[in-house]
Amino acid sequence: MPAIPANVRGAVITGWGTALPEKVLTNHDLEQMVDTSDEWITERTGIKQRHVGGSTVGLSVQSGRAALEMSGVDPASIDALVLSTTTPDRCVPASSAAVQHELGLRCGAFDVNAACSGFVYALVQAHGMIAMGAKKVLVIGTDTLARITDWTDRNTAILFADGSGAVVLEAVEGPGQLLSWDLDADGSAEKYLYSDIGSTIHMDGKEVFRRAVRIMVDSATKSMNHAGVTADDVALVVPHQANVRIIQSACDKLGIPMERASTVLHRTGNTSSASIPLALADALNNGRIQRGDLVLLVGFGAGMTAASAILRWGGGTDAAVLA
Ligand code: UT7
Repeated sequence: MPAIPANVRGAVITGWGTALPEKVLTNHDLEQMVDTSDEWITERTGIKQRHVGGSTVGLSVQSGRAALEMSGVDPASIDALVLSTTTPDRCVPASSAAVQHELGLRCGAFDVNAACSGFVYALVQAHGMIAMGAKKVLVIGTDTLARITDWTDRNTAILFADGSGAVVLEAVEGPGQLLSWDLDADGSAEKYLYSDIGSTIHMDGKEVFRRAVRIMVDSATKSMNHAGVTADDVALVVPHQANVRIIQSACDKLGIPMERASTVLHRTGNTSSASIPLALADALNNGRIQRGDLVLLVGFGAGMTAASAILRWGGGTDAAVLA
């Protein structure tokens, strides 16, 4: 991707929120459903439990409301809602329309589907709208994969789950947070991970694993190069939460120690569009990101897609939110 032109209107994240369904499914619960074990799932994926249940609209409203409350932004002043989801509640209309209504927004709303890379796609899209004049954009990543998971297939049942994460993005005076971004897709690889309409997820786990590491590293490297930064400059990487071994392998190749990666998958499983905002919110809530820190968001997913972005947390020194 080309570098971001100088002097475009920038933005910063001013609020975030998350939502997870109440129902928890542990690895021990899965032992009763498919031929697997807690030990195998923990060793091969890093996942111990996941949350399942709820709708894409319901979870999005919860996380979106929490993000709006934290930012203190009046819902009526939001200029656009971008909802990343690969599991909308209906084919038509977009789930974002119901979320817009329930949150009391008075703006355009649309869904983005780039599978597990979708939140970064949506965040980049939101920055683009701010560059074009919008002042406040709500970005939500939500997936309800439990509905399209075959709970008799141990290959996928151990991985997938439900959740939502949201951020409020506000335009600033001065330099914003986004230093660079990269969005990739390779449609020739769609056969490795897909779900037909009305069906469940089919996955060639080994092939997805192999490609995932490569495309995450490629995308992250492009974003770092565009931003003119190195792995040493990155304070925290917030990766897609699919398998801890994928994260470990990508971090090793990038030269980023695992201590500088945010992981929540041990308690959330793979929540697709929600995984990066859930891991970002977790890091923020635990004080792992300070103003000025460089944060690398990087995801991969069905498509196969990949996406990354480098954020300077809080924007430049003179970044002040526009009224
Ligand atoms: O958002 C993107 C979504 N998808 C992904 O990121 C998936 C990427 N792939 C993966 O995470 C991994 O490939 C899996 C977790 C799906 C599988 O792990 P693996 O280390 O690639 O296992 P494998 O398929 O190579 O299987 C190893 C062994 C086999 O037994 P044998 O042939 O060695 O005797 C499998 O039959 O483990 C067996 N196995 C299982 N055992 C217990 C496979 N799945 C399971 C299971 N429980 N769930």
